[in-house]
Amino acid sequence: MTKKIAVLPGDGIGPEIVAEAVKVLEKLAQDGLDIELEYGLIGGAAYDETGTPLPEHTLAISKAADAVLLGAVGGYKWESLDISVRPEKGLLGIRSELNLFANLRPAILYPQLADASTLKPDVVAGLDLMIVRELTGGIYFGQPRGIRELANGEKQGFNTLVYKQSEINRIGKVAFEIAQKRGGKLCSVDKANVLESTELWRETMIALSADYPDVELSHMYVDNAAMQLVRAPKQFDVMVTTNMFGDILSDCASMLTGSIGMLPSASLDEDGKGMYEPIHGSAPDIAGQNLANPIATILSVAMMLRYTLDQPEIAKRIENAVSKVLDDGLRTSDIYSEGMTKVGTAEMGDAIVAAL
Ligand code: IPM
Ligand code: MG
Repeated sequence: MTKKIAVLPGDGIGPEIVAEAVKVLEKLAQDGLDIELEYGLIGGAAYDETGTPLPEHTLAISKAADAVLLGAVGGYKWESLDISVRPEKGLLGIRSELNLFANLRPAILYPQLADASTLKPDVVAGLDLMIVRELTGGIYFGQPRGIRELANGEKQGFNTLVYKQSEINRIGKVAFEIAQKRGGKLCSVDKANVLESTELWRETMIALSADYPDVELSHMYVDNAAMQLVRAPKQFDVMVTTNMFGDILSDCASMLTGSIGMLPSASLDEDGKGMYEPIHGSAPDIAGQNLANPIATILSVAMMLRYTLDQPEIAKRIENAVSKVLDDGLRTSDIYSEGMTKVGTAEMGDAIVAAL
């Protein structure tokens, strides 16, 4: 049966990197993969066109699709808009509307890029870590929130960090199951020494661990985890954490792999339906200049094939093609080092398609 993919390029470098990922999908379609693409607007591009960062049409095609491919949202142009219609609201809205509570962010160092990391090669060589970030709860969505005026006339901004046991349980299960299929180690990251919501997080993870005797569960405070990620990242196999901690730690982990331009992600619902996007943002400073690295988006397509379309061999083909192109010395400027061949966004995409 034809699988439907909703394609949402978004803002900034979004359209450029998605165009390269679409080249990969088109090549796979030529080779027999039965897919159909449908485009939608999201973020600032959607706001400009329709007055909302998440138009009904986009939501409808995304709900009807088997998987969603997203570029990035946001940019200087929309920064002064009211928070309720900012591009980021489109992204948070679609995550929430599609119930994409499990965000998988793998940080894998391609050996060819050991020199591109700002960390010493021996600290990062062989790195293969999976961050499982809770994506539809926590302080990103907690109520009440807002900016209010106090009795003395001073303004106060407030947000609420809340987690229900059921929310912790379902993300915990995803993380334990991933750990079972990998190295059998799960580190739950919290701030249980200060925040009650993450005290419950820790208790719930401990209770859940009884169902997974083959997984070794450990706990770490988020400040220590940030430090350990740059000190000795290879101690980690799978990390599971809250929405905001996961946002921060995954950016940190991305630099271990040479560039944030290398990290894909999958955001999954209970049934494995997913939205796939690079973890980096819209990079408005380099938009439209053929400078962005499309690899994170192309690797997101590989995740789509693995997690939603059930085609692990094709996923591997894409990952091998990326590896081959890196072997050939091709580098976008974010991962460039002396002696390599510097290429633009489109050339990198074409080379990966050729290597497929
Ligand atoms: C990410 C991004 C988003 C987030 C922004 C753009 C809303 O930083 O996907 O990591 O904070 O989740
Ligand atoms: Mg982020």
